[in-house]
Amino acid sequence: MTDGQRRALGGLPPGARIRSLGHAGYEIEHAGVRLLIDPWFHPAFLASWFPFPDNRPLLASVAAASYDLLYLSHEHEDHFDAHTLGMLDRDATTVVVPRFRSKSLVRRVTQLGFRNVVALGHRERYEAADGFVLTMLLDTSHKEDSGLVVDLGGFRFLDLNDCNTPMSELPTDVDVLSAQYSGAMWYPNCYAYPDEVQRKKTAEIRGDLFDTLVRKVRLTGAAAYLPAAGPPCFLDPELERFNDRSATIFPVWDDLADDFAAACPDVAAVLLEPGDALTADGVAESADPARGTWRDSPQAYLAAYRERRAEEWGAYHDEAFEAVSAEELDAYFGKLTSWNKRFLADYQRDVRLVADGHTWSVRLAQVGGALEEDPVDAGYTIHVPSRALRAIVDGRIGWEEALLSLRLSLHRDPDVFDLTLMSLLRYGNHPAQTMQMVRERAEAASGESIERCGYSFQRFCPHAGEDLALADIDGEVLECPRHHWKWDLRTGECVSGGTVPLRVDAAQPG
Ligand code: FES
Repeated sequence: MTDGQRRALGGLPPGARIRSLGHAGYEIEHAGVRLLIDPWFHPAFLASWFPFPDNRPLLASVAAASYDLLYLSHEHEDHFDAHTLGMLDRDATTVVVPRFRSKSLVRRVTQLGFRNVVALGHRERYEAADGFVLTMLLDTSHKEDSGLVVDLGGFRFLDLNDCNTPMSELPTDVDVLSAQYSGAMWYPNCYAYPDEVQRKKTAEIRGDLFDTLVRKVRLTGAAAYLPAAGPPCFLDPELERFNDRSATIFPVWDDLADDFAAACPDVAAVLLEPGDALTADGVAESADPARGTWRDSPQAYLAAYRERRAEEWGAYHDEAFEAVSAEELDAYFGKLTSWNKRFLADYQRDVRLVADGHTWSVRLAQVGGALEEDPVDAGYTIHVPSRALRAIVDGRIGWEEALLSLRLSLHRDPDVFDLTLMSLLRYGNHPAQTMQMVRERAEAASGESIERCGYSFQRFCPHAGEDLALADIDGEVLECPRHHWKWDLRTGECVSGGTVPLRVDAAQPG
């Protein structure tokens, strides 16, 4: 425990405790209230992600505990672990969830048997007890994710996990911030790039993630930062390459600690191992004899972990399944495109799907779905294992989860992000989200403008709604602080990241 850490935690009320459960999971106790956050213990995304370090030794105590409150930030399986949730006392626990446009999260919580569910909108508060207050923060774009401010007698813990609340909406008086620092995406590591291109793109994304983290830390005024919400590890030998911490977007905190100390010298970074807890006296370390042993020999640690969970990752390969037929695939895309008719509007591209030797061209331009033998204009080719395609077509998972499994590989030509296609795949099974994108497009055409550096342009990023009031402007190029897309402010043309233009108003500097 350093002096900086001690100072940063000094305001935590006596008796209060913030205990890490690994990944984005926490258990917080204060004022007689016990809150559980995003407990994740079982494999996610087609049995590909596992918590790192292994947190399973904590599961029995979590399942046996009684919680007054449970907060679930969003539906991704590394936050919404249905297996673990099914082990909790569902009568005694009040579940606090974000109020998303799609009602899916509330529905799933209710289906699990929880009776008391409180859905909070952006900035809405829930007072659990005197001195224990929760405030919900949403990603206010079409994306459905949330963070939570937990006020413990004036000490403010902000759990941002992997949520991107617009930066201008973040609280500025935070004591401890918990947020993601590593990637949680399939880009670029699942794309078929030559090695040198892959290295360059990986380095860019790692740099962007770090920059975004530093901005969040500075904006929130946090005195201490808890690295959290990743990276996971991948125990299926098929996915071994994603455990390479230097060649992927999944670094461990030790890789970034020095850069962080240089960028934020007054902020105490406190890496909690599963079971460690913050208290007013400092960090109370877990008594688990395996605590921190992953550092001794990461490869040996992962080999032993893989062995312990062989049945769990092996289940993906063992499950019997039937390959998807052309008729089923046609019906699937027919439904997806008809649900998203307004979103697709005049979209004209095809996507080529390759599943274990079968190739299909899906004509997304034709609402109702149509498969062709030969692609006409397939900008994207997606290789998907047949068993994953079966799970998608049966509705057991969406494309978002399949992509996050890293079991798919992609190729695109030209090498440009296709926002419509990827949004259709990621959000199309929740049309409330794609309809919000339709509204965002309309707002982009006529919504709020801001003036900066002599330019007038739309205030919220046309990619995913970040507040461009905080964007960097270098000459005539604007860079969004969230995913670092860039636009030419003279024309509105997107010059890096994607193809979606920025609305630039007529009045320009003289
Ligand atoms: S929100 Fe993604 S680049 Fe702006």
